[in-house]
Amino acid sequence: MQAAVFDLDGVVTDTAKFHFQAWSKLAKEEFNLDLPASFETNLKGISRTESLEAILKFGDLLDKYSKEEVQNLANKKNDYYVEAISKLTKEDILPGISKLLTDLKANGVKLAVASASKNAPFILEKLGLAHVFDAVADPAKVKAGKPAPDIFLAGAKAVGVAPNQCVGVEDAVAGVSAIKAADMVAVAVGDKNELRQADCVVPTTRNFTYQLFSDVFDRYHK
Ligand code: BG6
Ligand code: MG
Repeated sequence: MQAAVFDLDGVVTDTAKFHFQAWSKLAKEEFNLDLPASFETNLKGISRTESLEAILKFGDLLDKYSKEEVQNLANKKNDYYVEAISKLTKEDILPGISKLLTDLKANGVKLAVASASKNAPFILEKLGLAHVFDAVADPAKVKAGKPAPDIFLAGAKAVGVAPNQCVGVEDAVAGVSAIKAADMVAVAVGDKNELRQADCVVPTTRNFTYQLFSDVFDRYHK
């Protein structure tokens, strides 16, 4: 294992819940639509616009808004979201992650971020992790979002490591598909059944250790 390529939201910090709260607020205010809790998983890993399209589809509203209106609604959701993430501090790093990053680094493993979020650099700054990662792939610069492999490939490239020497880390179904499509070993946190495409799934980030990553990599890499 020469590099670990991390998703951010739901892996390094629990921002997945803030995304869903912001979408739920927007859906209620703008469309009088209640998003069921089970909908959260559909929105993980996909871009802001794709998330909004999924919500509009769910409400049978897809054809009712122009491109410009969709853009304005997405901006509004982002305002709600940015307000929530402005309060993040290093206390919001998920359990086990700081030690994992330190141990990976100590073992010469490069660290990259492969998030679909345009807010990733801001979040890393807030968490005090901006200088811990060797590279942050820019989602605005890749052709296709998750489940396509592009953002994970960009993360590997940014740290100069071949994809088959990387472990990808995710909490989303679309993200695990992206890791596997990139020919990386996939370690995931969350529901074992939902994330069954991953090479290893653990219930919480507390279970993430350098040893686990190393063992899973040795067992599954191509
Ligand atoms: C991903 C989240 O990390 O980023 C998605 O899992 C989100 O839920 C996506 O839609 C885009 O984020 P942002 O911050 O650019 O709206
Ligand atoms: Mg995620």
